[in-house]
Amino acid sequence: MDRFTKLAGLVVLGACFATSPASAAGGKSPLADPSGIDLDNVASLQRGAANYMNYCSGCHSAEYVRFSTIGKMLELSDEQLIDNLMFNADKTFETINAAMPHADAERWFGQAPPDLSLMARSKGADHIYNFLRGYYVDPDSPTGVDNVVLAGTSMPHVLWELQGFQKANFEQHENEDGSVTMEFEGFEMLSAGSMDAEAYDEFVRDTTNFLAFIAEPVRQDRRKIGVWVLIFLLFFLVIAAQLKKEIWKDVK
Ligand code: HEC
Repeated sequence: MDRFTKLAGLVVLGACFATSPASAAGGKSPLADPSGIDLDNVASLQRGAANYMNYCSGCHSAEYVRFSTIGKMLELSDEQLIDNLMFNADKTFETINAAMPHADAERWFGQAPPDLSLMARSKGADHIYNFLRGYYVDPDSPTGVDNVVLAGTSMPHVLWELQGFQKANFEQHENEDGSVTMEFEGFEMLSAGSMDAEAYDEFVRDTTNFLAFIAEPVRQDRRKIGVWVLIFLLFFLVIAAQLKKEIWKDVK
């Protein structure tokens, strides 16, 4: 392989990483704050699970995750699961189904709310974090709000009681070719919700953390096993090296 082919290969490889969903979502959005989630923080995940069941599971399903998995990973007993999280399921091995029938949801919102099991993997945690913080009042929209992260979204501002309503300021920017684009400048609070900005961000962070957790519940186990595999490989390397020495010692 000559140097040019090698270089071209590296460029292509780089391009693959550059367009992975997480970075693509983070780069383009006008609101691109890091979510700051922590998958090791079990208390945050427990709060996120409660937030999810209270505010999201009415419309969204999470069909690829069972309550029993959540209970095991989040250190919740069956009683705690049943009392606090399982509003629309009887058995802990059930998956999280939306309370709202799919066909009705599609008719009401124009588009059925997507399943959220793998959302954090397809769009990235930062995207969800900013999406839930990106609502602003827009009288022209059927839901009364729009979103700077997902313009024209059909999801209503379901957390308005907590966040309140905000106004988005846009500024006109003239491009070099003479066309005009509106650029997002920032939010202004119109009416306060029950939480201040910091508490609301924390609420959204916990919820996002939970969605990142259900996107790959075995992540923590996978990491623990990975460490043991590496230790084994190192140990085996020593044995293999000794063995090679022994076998080849007479061949010179
Ligand atoms: C009233 C029903 C309803 C509730 C409650 C609801 N959603 Fe949604 N959600 C929708 C609909 C409808 C869409 C599809 C929106 C679209 O693509 O424009 C959606 C889309 C989404 C998306 C995808 C956004 C994207 O970029 O494609 C995410 C993430 C999401 N919702 C998260 C949540 C979370 C987290 C909650 C709970 C805090 C929640 N939703 C509560 C109706 C709802």
